[in-house]
Amino acid sequence: MKLKIKKIINKKNKSPLICLTAYSKNVSKILDKYCDIILVGDSLANVLYGMKNTHQITLWSMIEHAKSVKLGVKKSLLVVDMPKNTYSNSKLALKNAKKILKTTKCDAVKIENNRKNFTIIKKLTSSGIPVMGHIGFTPQYINKFKPVTYSKKDEKKLMDDAFKIQKAGAFSIVIECVSARISKKVTESLEIPTIGIGASKFCDGQILVTDDLLGLSGFYPKFVRKYTNLKKIIEISIQKYRKDVLKKKFPNKGNSF
Ligand code: KIV
Repeated sequence: MKLKIKKIINKKNKSPLICLTAYSKNVSKILDKYCDIILVGDSLANVLYGMKNTHQITLWSMIEHAKSVKLGVKKSLLVVDMPKNTYSNSKLALKNAKKILKTTKCDAVKIENNRKNFTIIKKLTSSGIPVMGHIGFTPQYINKFKPVTYSKKDEKKLMDDAFKIQKAGAFSIVIECVSARISKKVTESLEIPTIGIGASKFCDGQILVTDDLLGLSGFYPKFVRKYTNLKKIIEISIQKYRKDVLKKKFPNKGNSF
């Protein structure tokens, strides 16, 4: 097993994993100092491209963004989301995962659970490709953002899925929008780390979409904590620039040749 992956697994029960998304170099360069894992999430479909869900984002788009992100990453584990329909069978999944790893130089791929793709995960991990799973709310298989309440039966399915993903060789699992009680149970039952998003402090790590926590995306469900209002900060700077240009205060001598 690759050393970087081992280090992530070894943090379970020791120190919470710090994880965030990035879609470009300027952001990943900042995150790299503070994160264990940087994810090039297919959430970029909604956040950057204004799509209504993540279903149409292409492998090419994910690769191009991941190449940019990689330029800012020195120490964190870099994970890239496999878009929907790029891993629908083992052969296709292996071909595309290899392409992602080779072209972006990332460390791992993430695959959303659809209750059928355990053998696909196994195919990748047994070919030496590190895989992060993703259970609970899985945007690739749902049309709208709408977290659900899990029944006892659903809870059992979730638990089964988590175990199957672990057995298939995944090194970690994202748990999205699942109650504290269930995410605690899953986390305590697994040997690999869980990474929560809207899934309580009981997970082994946390992830958020960076644009959400910076106040840039305009998407603030209850699991997001908005740490700053970057939208406002950018607006103030642009207003100042506009004023300076209108008043001929920019550029000044120092800005000119
Ligand atoms: O696409 C994404 O950004 C994700 C995270 C929210 C976990 O899957």
